[in-house]
Amino acid sequence: MKALVLAGGAGTRLRPITHTSAKQLVPVANKAVLFYGLESLADAGVTEAGVIVGETADEIRAAVGDGTRFGLHVTYIPQERPLGLAHAVIVARDWLGDDDFVMYLGDNFIVGGITALVDEFRRTRPAAQILLTRVADPRAFGVAELDQAGNVVGLEEKPRNPRSDLALVGVYLFTPAVHAAVRAVRPSRRGELEITDAVQHLLDSGAEVRSTIIKGYWKDTGNVVDMLEVNRTVLEGVERRIDGEVDEASETVGRVVVEAGARVVRSRIVGPVVIGAGTEIRDSYVGPFTSVGEHCRITDSEVEFSIVLRDSSIEGVGRIENSLIGRHVEVTPAPGVPTAHRLVLGDHSKVQIHS
Ligand code: DAU
Repeated sequence: MKALVLAGGAGTRLRPITHTSAKQLVPVANKAVLFYGLESLADAGVTEAGVIVGETADEIRAAVGDGTRFGLHVTYIPQERPLGLAHAVIVARDWLGDDDFVMYLGDNFIVGGITALVDEFRRTRPAAQILLTRVADPRAFGVAELDQAGNVVGLEEKPRNPRSDLALVGVYLFTPAVHAAVRAVRPSRRGELEITDAVQHLLDSGAEVRSTIIKGYWKDTGNVVDMLEVNRTVLEGVERRIDGEVDEASETVGRVVVEAGARVVRSRIVGPVVIGAGTEIRDSYVGPFTSVGEHCRITDSEVEFSIVLRDSSIEGVGRIENSLIGRHVEVTPAPGVPTAHRLVLGDHSKVQIHS
């Protein structure tokens, strides 16, 4: 069984991190979303992965390399333009040959991996097996309709009036029967060859399409709250590992990862937290559910439940919470802003105020 990993498409401005880059490389707990996908494919026993690349091919190649570190042998398959998920299957036809394959969308994040799903497919070999999850607004997804018995009866890509709240998650398993189906579909309203239509074509031709409903799914929506939540979920699972330097005056509590080349000086780190390589935390507090990327500096500050991407610095600003800080950001105190404190204090109060 092979894997077809879709990491093509155009570079996107990642709202709210206004930075143009491959969306599959957005970090969660300091690791690209795409890497979690590659790891879960390897965990499921896949060794051959074809990676579809487009405009951001150089960035993807630089990040993934030949796949050895994921336990995969990676072949890059260029797609001239992002003409749709079914188009990607057409482009990969020769590489796929007549093998069964799992198609994995590189910007999708699935908590808990896909091993059980791949095993089930290997046992049952329907023409297609799709993954579904309940979402609040299905209009941004492919949507599946199931009958009483749970069989898939219809699929629609980004419907205006969804017939269910079951969204297609970006993992599909196929036998070679899909090749005739992708050739049969015509461009959709948005001008793409939709894999959703190819699966519908399989259904229409009487082929077996199975579905599994999962929990624990996330896709980059540009939503800070979602990003912080998925970061939190992943950090829940990290194991303590101190490969960098932590001085005597510092304390690290619980599941803290300090990567090699990172330094913690006169600071307190309370896990789960990851601190990227080459980062320095000095005279600061880093609290639970925080990911600090590579080559950052946090000085005289407190950061909690936040994501700080690589090459950023936070200096002398007091407390930062529930925040997403992009790459190459500098956070410093505003110079000379006059402050006034409005107080309503009961008798005998004692207060300490930073002046
Ligand atoms: O994320 C799940 C959704 O993915 C499904 O619910 C939809 O049914 C499915 O069509 C797809 O919808 P999106 O509009 O979100 O797909 P997107 O354009 O974001 O592409 C998904 C990934 O595939 C992304 O990593 C880019 C890559 N891609 C996309 C296209 C259109 C390619 O490599 N080539 C392409 O031609």
